[in-house]
Amino acid sequence: TDLNAFIDELPKAELHVHIEGTLEPELMFALAERNGIALPYGSVEELRAAYSFKNLQEFLDLYYQGAQVLITRQDFYDLTMAYLKRAHADRVLHTEIFFDPQTHTERGIAFETVLDGITTALSDAAHELGLTSELILCFLRHLSEDDAIATYEMALPHRDRIAGFGLDSSEKGHPPAKFERVFTRVRADGFKVVAHAGEEGPPEYVRDALDLLKVDRIDHGNRALEDSALVERLAREAMPLTVCPLSNLSLAVVTDLADHPLRQMLDAGLVATLNSDDPAYFGGYVNQNYKETQSALSLTKDELALLARNSLTASFASPERKAELL
Ligand code: ADE
Ligand code: ZN
Repeated sequence: TDLNAFIDELPKAELHVHIEGTLEPELMFALAERNGIALPYGSVEELRAAYSFKNLQEFLDLYYQGAQVLITRQDFYDLTMAYLKRAHADRVLHTEIFFDPQTHTERGIAFETVLDGITTALSDAAHELGLTSELILCFLRHLSEDDAIATYEMALPHRDRIAGFGLDSSEKGHPPAKFERVFTRVRADGFKVVAHAGEEGPPEYVRDALDLLKVDRIDHGNRALEDSALVERLAREAMPLTVCPLSNLSLAVVTDLADHPLRQMLDAGLVATLNSDDPAYFGGYVNQNYKETQSALSLTKDELALLARNSLTASFASPERKAELL
């Protein structure tokens, strides 16, 4: 349609994408073979068929299992470059990528192997495609705060390559309060802070991400809509939300895109952005998220343009880069 062409051409940023979640089944099989790792699936088709999730945890179990094929610096480079080329095709001018180092260091992969592979691809894409990026290290919330602190200390010598820190993995039972101390340090050291909140967890977790972690953006934020005072606050503070509609559909956070809270978010004047989260697992990169949401919620051209503009303004790009983007 006319609006799909408009979406394809819209200059945009992607602010919520887990690099491990961009591992396509084809690359997973290729890396398994390259590294001599056996996968519990006979084929790419069999693996894809397993991508049917009742909730966040069912997805996470497969996502962590899939990440085990990533061993060498070249593996992390290939993973990241494949995503960057795909994002470039969606007219993503700037991207902010999450990575989960604990998933790898727990398996004996060096932090530097992960970081070097990813950041070499980021710098090649900046030169070759003009696609700029920032990197956000996410702590796994199902692990302890002490584990997060140890990971933070591993990252500090590389602080010039990391823009900020986030919080992901199993939300229920792992509230923001569990990570208050580490994020106090992260902020004092001058980094940006984000956290997944209100994906499966209650509105209180969104409030605590604001009050205790003092986040610069909320990742997801869906369940904030259950609390009208919280919605008013998010609007007043112009707090960006990185919304991921196809992820929400795949993980049964919503049962139908027509019921997606993005409609209420826009009507309440919240600074919403659209993102792919884990596109290899959820059936679509960022433009597919725009297209399916447009169709389900009858988003107008102006609303699509606003969502794309929000993604550029809410980014952590340098002031110089932001001036070019806007
Ligand atoms: N890690 C990767 N994708 C995630 C999601 N949607 N929620 C929490 N943790 C994640
Ligand atoms: Zn996410």
